[in-house]
Amino acid sequence: MASTERPNWAPESIDLERPNAARIYDYLLGGAANFAADREFAEQLLTVLPEARGAARMNRAFLNRAVRFCVDAGIRQFLDVGSGIPTAGNVHEIAQRMDPSCRVLYADVEPVAVTHSELMLRDNDQAAAIRADFTDPDSVLDNETTRRVLDFDQPMALLLVAVLHFVPDDAQPYDAVARFVSRLAPGSYLVLSHSVERPSEEQAEGIDRLYDRADAPGVRRTHAEIARFYDGLEMVEPGLVNTPEWRPEPNDTSADQPGADVAIAGVARKP
Ligand SMILES: C[S@@+](CC[C@H](N)C(=O)[O-])C[C@H]1O[C@@H](n2cnc3c(N)ncnc32)[C@H](O)[C@@H]1O
Repeated sequence: MASTERPNWAPESIDLERPNAARIYDYLLGGAANFAADREFAEQLLTVLPEARGAARMNRAFLNRAVRFCVDAGIRQFLDVGSGIPTAGNVHEIAQRMDPSCRVLYADVEPVAVTHSELMLRDNDQAAAIRADFTDPDSVLDNETTRRVLDFDQPMALLLVAVLHFVPDDAQPYDAVARFVSRLAPGSYLVLSHSVERPSEEQAEGIDRLYDRADAPGVRRTHAEIARFYDGLEMVEPGLVNTPEWRPEPNDTSADQPGADVAIAGVARKP
């Protein structure tokens, strides 16, 4: 019998006893949409990778800077796949603060992430959330809600932020990214971050062992393997770098702090 009480926002379909990537990340960021199994997992992760919390915050900060970069570059539409549970600084908040006409479609495979996103967007007719799987790009691209919110004849930013390290090679993530990119208008951007292989094999194995218990195992990739996701696109300066090194705010010292090298990130333009 489940030892966890099920709140009304947790659909019957989810297993509250199984740690889940979206809810672990929510806990690391200080959110409340997580359960005992997720919190316990996150605490164990912090013993193997004490930098995980800092890395999660740096990832969120990268997302924020990248969205602002895209709006400054003229982008007014965002397709955020693997968008996660809403937390401080969501894409529509960042973009619509800069220009209220910005449109955002959130997609995630995790029902709690989608339920919370739908609640948050109740009164926002420029943004919506759908439940869909990145590994089936057409289920995102051809979704009725996606087509209502986004205009594929106009450039947009495709956000794949901290999601691809949950998609193993046998699920064909390179083909899926290429499929998404093929549907974007010229002048669109790809915004991507990905955890990068740890220098310590012992630490990497500890993380692997832990994630084998979660509902999506973590995937290790090298810098070169992550760079391949940008094939055919023009990298924006400064390229694919540690997340806090991507166009940092003046006086930001995150790049020297623990967690800075856990993930790499970059933005590229479709010619
Ligand atoms: C670490 S969170 C990142 C959330 C957000 N993009 C960010 O960077 O703050 C990873 C998210 O990817 C989602 N995810 C994992 N595999 C997915 C898939 N195949 N399709 C869609 N979403 C997926 C998880 O449910 C989770 O919400």
